[in-house]
Amino acid sequence: MSKNVTPYKESNRGKKEQVTEMFDTISENYDGLNRVISFGIDVKWRKKVVKLVGDTNPKSVLDIATGTADLAINLVKTGAERIVGLDISPGMLEVGKQKIKKKELHDKIEMVLGDGEKLPFEDNSFDAITVAFGVRNFENLEQGLQEIYRVLKPKGIFVVLETAVPTKTPYKQFYRLYSGRILPVIGKLFSKDNAAYGYLSESAAAFPFGENFNNILRKIGFIDVKDKPQTFGVASIYTATK
Ligand SMILES: C[S@@+](CC[C@H](N)C(=O)[O-])C[C@H]1O[C@@H](n2cnc3c(N)ncnc32)[C@H](O)[C@@H]1O
Repeated sequence: MSKNVTPYKESNRGKKEQVTEMFDTISENYDGLNRVISFGIDVKWRKKVVKLVGDTNPKSVLDIATGTADLAINLVKTGAERIVGLDISPGMLEVGKQKIKKKELHDKIEMVLGDGEKLPFEDNSFDAITVAFGVRNFENLEQGLQEIYRVLKPKGIFVVLETAVPTKTPYKQFYRLYSGRILPVIGKLFSKDNAAYGYLSESAAAFPFGENFNNILRKIGFIDVKDKPQTFGVASIYTATK
């Protein structure tokens, strides 16, 4: 389970602290690196998430692990009156806030420093909740999902975009080569943090994807759980309701 995969193997600190430090360290390079390591396809995946959320005409949307706010910014297109981006890393949030300011969206998107596993919101607060490439970083996945369930309104939509592992030949062999050998080298070249891109591929390999993740969502209480594999299975979009 992803719980035991941490960025800094020699450290005794908990996963949450290590993850926060790692994202603070890479925050300035994060957007550029994201485009490079996913060949720009992550932009297309986030658009699909926005479409799924937009189709439900939400009034309020919470984007957890919002990072540099790419998804939160795109969620403005849903027409929601209230968009909140929450993240545990002050560095990532700061980069996101600057982007929001540049786009003059600061009166539409609120950026909150907080922990996705202990949400600072009342029960049944949001019509829609999204998490893109975030749940894999939770220290306690089920606790985080329970919190999401708690603050989602009944009939609200929950959409998760997360890495997955291709299961079909030849994609699985190519993916193994890419994530095991190429990704860490790209990470080292572009990032100040050598551990970071080792962690990204290791945590992706350890994360329960597809039906395994669907079953965890069902266990928490979500209904209408579906997963839609993306781009040869390197990522998945999960939808669920309460
Ligand atoms: C890979 S980035 C994804 C950022 C953004 N959602 C995107 O699509 O680009 C993962 C983010 O999760 C955040 N994160 C990790 N654990 C968290 C937690 N427990 N609560 C809130 N955010 C968390 C990190 O700080 C980081 O910004």
